[in-house]
Amino acid sequence: MSSRGNWGSRAGFILAAAGSAVGLGNIWRFPYITGKNGGALFVLIYIGCVIVLGLPVLLAEFSLGRATTRNPVGAFAAIRPNSIWHWTGYLGVITGVMILSFYSVVAGWTLGYCFKSLSGQFSGIDKGKALAMFGRFIASPWLQVLLLAIFMVLTIYIVIKGVAAGLERYSKILMPTLFLIMILLMVRSLTLPGAGKGLLFYLKPDFAKISGPVFLEAMGQAFFSLSLGMGTMLTYGSYLGKKENLVSSAAWVAALDTTIAILSGFIIFPALFSQNMEPGQGPGLVFNILPVIFARMPGGMWFGSLFFMLLAVAALTSTISILEVPVAFLIDEKKWTRRKASWLMGALAFAFGVPSALSGGGMKFFSSLPFFHIDFLSLWDKIWGNVALSVGAFFIAVFVAHVWKTANALDEITADGASFRLARLWVIAIKYVCPLLILVVLASQFF
Ligand code: PHE
Repeated sequence: MSSRGNWGSRAGFILAAAGSAVGLGNIWRFPYITGKNGGALFVLIYIGCVIVLGLPVLLAEFSLGRATTRNPVGAFAAIRPNSIWHWTGYLGVITGVMILSFYSVVAGWTLGYCFKSLSGQFSGIDKGKALAMFGRFIASPWLQVLLLAIFMVLTIYIVIKGVAAGLERYSKILMPTLFLIMILLMVRSLTLPGAGKGLLFYLKPDFAKISGPVFLEAMGQAFFSLSLGMGTMLTYGSYLGKKENLVSSAAWVAALDTTIAILSGFIIFPALFSQNMEPGQGPGLVFNILPVIFARMPGGMWFGSLFFMLLAVAALTSTISILEVPVAFLIDEKKWTRRKASWLMGALAFAFGVPSALSGGGMKFFSSLPFFHIDFLSLWDKIWGNVALSVGAFFIAVFVAHVWKTANALDEITADGASFRLARLWVIAIKYVCPLLILVVLASQFF
């Protein structure tokens, strides 16, 4: 155990798991997906997915990881050797590299926007200028690749430093600061003229908009935001001591993560509608509207730089948790050094990230096909951030419930005398509700 590393403290674990969960998924992806899917109704379905699918799978990953003290591939193999179940782990390893690739591109945007704010480029900006600024920014190929590279190297550097020292330290002070700035931003956004229309969009469900794709997007977003379906939380659980309470840790992580996501909607949509901007515009959404909000705040230049810097840190506590999955696999199973594994997997993610980094410059792969009418970054986000995570979560739920068995999982969850009052509900959820629901939603997308 000691050679794999361990968490320094209970608060350290919750902070690190929350650090993994809270990131661009909450502040960049949640608003853009919500905007694309029509607002309030999507938010409702999303919250439903977090409770019905997210929480049970989170607990399943934590317990499987802690019980086996392995990486995702090793965890499946430990419980069911000589089967094909460890392929679920491989799927997680591959998904991790792919998510890291486009996620780091967007993380690079936050770095770029931090400098833009610092150099006063937000001052006096309006809708048209903000859109033009972002358009120019993502169409600069060298800058995009450079920012991607910088962010990847930062991620690799922290992952090399190991579990307790590397991952914990960064989560502790900075996230509460980010939260405070978000509250300020929300107040500013809500008091802009015409903000009410945005609130209506965000809070008043329009049941006419219900459709199969909305469910898939909400489900995928729940897994993405909670870092589920590829073994991240499994891996983090594997560094956790038996004394920690898995149930309350899971509840804390889900509550924090969902609060931040909902809060970011309260920042984005009032401002967006006050400026008559399009909610369904895609991945650029928050980068197009935030400068406009900062421009209308006293000290906006400083708040802007600080916000994007903290957002980069939030992204970093997520990317290190993504990279940790392939790295833990290579360390445990292939006996690689942490250094070698981190550099190699980081380099791979960088290579796969280049098309996403260039996609703003008009590099629209597949765009002639009817289904893929989107840029490469959105395409990758959909395939890996949505479908692959949902498939992974499906197999994790089936494995924990029907192969490892819920009785064993419950033994792990209640180890050291922890109480779990909702155990019966969890069993029903992980055995039947999660697998069936995920299957139905995935199938509805394809047929
Ligand atoms: N949950 C992270 C976020 O919301 C992203 C992530 C996805 C991290 C999958 C780990 C695994 O930003």
